[in-house]
Amino acid sequence: KFEGLALTPPMGWNSWNRFACHVDENMIRQMADAMVSTGMKDAGYTYINIDDCWHGERDSLGFIHPDPKRFPSGMKALADYVHSKGLKLGIYSDAGSQTCGGRPGSRGYEFQDAQTYASWGVDYLKYDWCNTEGLKAEGAYKTMAAALRRAGRPVVLSICEWGNDQPWEWGRTVGHLWRTTGDIFNCFDCIEDHGTWKSWGVMQILDMQQNLRRYAGPGHWNDPDMLEIGNGKLSPSEDRAHFSMWAMVAAPLIAGNDLRSMTSETIEVLTNKEVIAVNQDSLGIQGFQYAVKDSVETWFKPLKNDDWALCFLNRGTKPQTIEFKWSAQEVADTIFHKQLDVKHTVYKIRDLWMKKDIGTTKKDMKTMVPAHDVLMLRLSSTK
Ligand code: DGJ
Repeated sequence: KFEGLALTPPMGWNSWNRFACHVDENMIRQMADAMVSTGMKDAGYTYINIDDCWHGERDSLGFIHPDPKRFPSGMKALADYVHSKGLKLGIYSDAGSQTCGGRPGSRGYEFQDAQTYASWGVDYLKYDWCNTEGLKAEGAYKTMAAALRRAGRPVVLSICEWGNDQPWEWGRTVGHLWRTTGDIFNCFDCIEDHGTWKSWGVMQILDMQQNLRRYAGPGHWNDPDMLEIGNGKLSPSEDRAHFSMWAMVAAPLIAGNDLRSMTSETIEVLTNKEVIAVNQDSLGIQGFQYAVKDSVETWFKPLKNDDWALCFLNRGTKPQTIEFKWSAQEVADTIFHKQLDVKHTVYKIRDLWMKKDIGTTKKDMKTMVPAHDVLMLRLSSTK
């Protein structure tokens, strides 16, 4: 794979969660425009990623072309446009014979497709796993990684085999991020049963990240799937909780909504720079669940300069009072060897959603967390 890419979790936008197969070049251009005009680019978002269904046919020589009706100007022109905005373009393919949406897959065409993407100026490839009978995931993703290397243009490789074959075990040297689960379901806390398979809500996806934190780090991330913020199902506090927790677990921040028509609330969530700084911290350490009491989960994430992020997540439907006695906490990250040392260090406390300094760890904390909401803090070492 290309080293030196995705040293912090990738940030961008992807068409799938909101638009599924309904993609075309005008819409992609408008998303690039909106990413700039809404302040998302300034907040750190870079990738404009086209998901499934952009494809037309392969020609007689095997070269893939975009759907001529939806992308009449071609992919090179679209990439040029996205680049002219200071952004990067992502595209989607599948390791199998066909994509999940029934378009041509890359199986047997890996090197040719990688060259085509490079000639278009593609910067990011999400590589899906439908119709892969007889393939082994690790080998198939290694083939595409080698093809991208051969093509020579630096490309972030997003492994999307839904955690089936423990991609955290082998993904680190093959790609830059790997999906850990099936598709996120646009609902805060629920499971939808389809008989042979299930869809997982935001909280259920979060639960599935817990034992994987040792595998994440600069250039190689667990991917709990794209954001559902601003897609009309989550309440404002649920949007906030979703974003906060994706920041805490060092997840890729790939917005999945319509950037052209966001409420100011949605923009405020997606562009909260102090929450984004927790996600983009250069240590690249995934946060961990420290305690659970009643419906409140307490999460910690070590940050650079001995800072910490601390997030109280209330998963319940009633407000909860929390009392936090600093001197009683023994917070140690035994995998990455970090310690919150409240005995010898005073930490300044900042509320990242109120955007206010609220005291220090010299004084115990008693506060309330509303239902389906978070209290997210940054503790800054004054040492
Ligand atoms: C399955 C993936 O998990 C989704 O994120 C999306 O890319 C669809 N396939 C597209 O068909």
